[in-house]
Amino acid sequence: MTSAKTLTIAISGASGSIYGFTLLKFFLANDYKVDFVISCNGEYVTFKEMGLDLRDLSIADKKNKILELLALEHKESNFKLWDQKNIAASIASGSYKSQGMIIAPCSVGSIGNIASGTSNNLITRAADVVLKERKKLVLLVREMPFNSIHLSNMKTISDCGGVILPAAPAFYHQPKTIQDQINFIVGKVLDQFDIDHDIFKRWRGDANILNDYLV
Ligand SMILES: Cc1cc2nc3c(=O)[nH]c(=O)nc-3n(C[C@H](O)[C@H](O)[C@H](O)COP(=O)(O)O)c2cc1C
Repeated sequence: MTSAKTLTIAISGASGSIYGFTLLKFFLANDYKVDFVISCNGEYVTFKEMGLDLRDLSIADKKNKILELLALEHKESNFKLWDQKNIAASIASGSYKSQGMIIAPCSVGSIGNIASGTSNNLITRAADVVLKERKKLVLLVREMPFNSIHLSNMKTISDCGGVILPAAPAFYHQPKTIQDQINFIVGKVLDQFDIDHDIFKRWRGDANILNDYLV
């Protein structure tokens, strides 16, 4: 099986589930095969933030509800939803072919588990596998402020090749809406996989800065 256009997206219990769902929508809409996991805490925060209630549903019903939310029911065959407790999932094995994994948003709890290699659920196990196989792992961390434990855990993961991509929106692209801010962060994740997109306006350089601002 080829790894081209196959990747894993996970949503943990940090704030900002909308990032994960926006990424899921982008990849499914662009004909990627997506393995998807949402932690129990991620389900709770998603409910609080987006009103998406996945409680007490079977995996099949959760899957349908998510596809309905994204209006992507026709992409059903490319969307694999895994239970966060299912350590027998394909993505828990290094023999599974994929381009890598995105955790968006990523809690500092999951960061800690990845940094210490505890693999305490399918999300952190899959991330561990991606690191050991030297594939791309992008962690869209959302917390503030950071304590030294968070910072040293992030350094550990970065030293292993993981990309720490904080949910830190910029303003130079002149965002007008919350969706503009979400798109900026999502676009930065896509850049990590070298995927062409135009979901935010790139900085093109400013030749006049010398005249206007520099003394
Ligand atoms: C409403 C809400 C918002 C939260 N936001 C964050 C957050 O932004 N960052 C974070 O690291 N944890 C946040 N948490 C705490 C995590 O959900 C908690 O640490 C959880 O154990 C993470 O587990 P998981 O990484 O397995 O999903 C939040 C919890 C709640 C209830």
